[in-house]
Amino acid sequence: MTGKGDTVTLTIGTSTAEIYLFGATLTSWKTDGVERIFVSETAHLDGSKAIRGGIPLVFPHFGTVATSKLPQHGFARNSSWECVKKTESTAEFHLKPDGVPTKLRELWPHDFHLIYTVTLAANTLKTSLTINNPSQEAWDFTTLLHTYFAVKDISRVKVAGLKGYAFLDKVNPPEGDAKPEESREHVNVAGEVDRVYEAVSNNKITILETGSGDVEVHKSHFPDVVVWNPWIEKAKAMADFGDEDYRKMICVEVGSVTDFISLAPGKTWEGSQTLVVARL
Ligand code: BG6
Repeated sequence: MTGKGDTVTLTIGTSTAEIYLFGATLTSWKTDGVERIFVSETAHLDGSKAIRGGIPLVFPHFGTVATSKLPQHGFARNSSWECVKKTESTAEFHLKPDGVPTKLRELWPHDFHLIYTVTLAANTLKTSLTINNPSQEAWDFTTLLHTYFAVKDISRVKVAGLKGYAFLDKVNPPEGDAKPEESREHVNVAGEVDRVYEAVSNNKITILETGSGDVEVHKSHFPDVVVWNPWIEKAKAMADFGDEDYRKMICVEVGSVTDFISLAPGKTWEGSQTLVVARL
């Protein structure tokens, strides 16, 4: 990992969390000393690049968008956030346009206010994102919490709670508009996986067999769930991801990414996830 930027640390009992001001990216969540979040050994932690791992924040759009010149996943993960409130177990981070690198700011010239709150409790981590439009004009966004979970052996990991939901397969995109539905009770990873499950009304997704217990993801106001593992070839192609890292992580990302949300002047949108260590 390259040089370390400024961080905020939370502690409650035997649980801890660490969040970088750069990107407000949470890079560690430990319960009883067990790390639940994956960050690559080759991640850049000096603000020169979005952090490869942790919980990068995706805003104002997920992926690349034909109508936007912003890089993939927008600018929130590349911006300088401010920590405005902090207790032992909670921290609140804010981002306004002046925290966005000028070159990126010019590509999305709207006024906005993001508030990201991280709250730690025993065996539980809540991350909540509030998006406010203080300007006189409506603008559109998609957003997502890009959580990288640490696992001991990807071949054992199963994701429960997605059966029956339609998905966009980004590895093998469908020819027409028809989208298949997930038929499996447990989604596993045995090759590259990059799927956007849409309108997932079940708000509890569980990551089973992490190697140190099950982790539940409880989502609120995030309709979509992305499951991503780059597997061998894509891992080799990423400079800030170790060749073997794909074995040690799975991204389960809650978001609102399928449809753009139009945020009217003065309005606020909020979404959150609560991660719970369910079974050791
Ligand atoms: C996932 C996307 O959310 O993020 C993938 O579905 C993408 O398509 C992955 O490859 C990582 O993106 P990035 O920009 O951090 O390399």
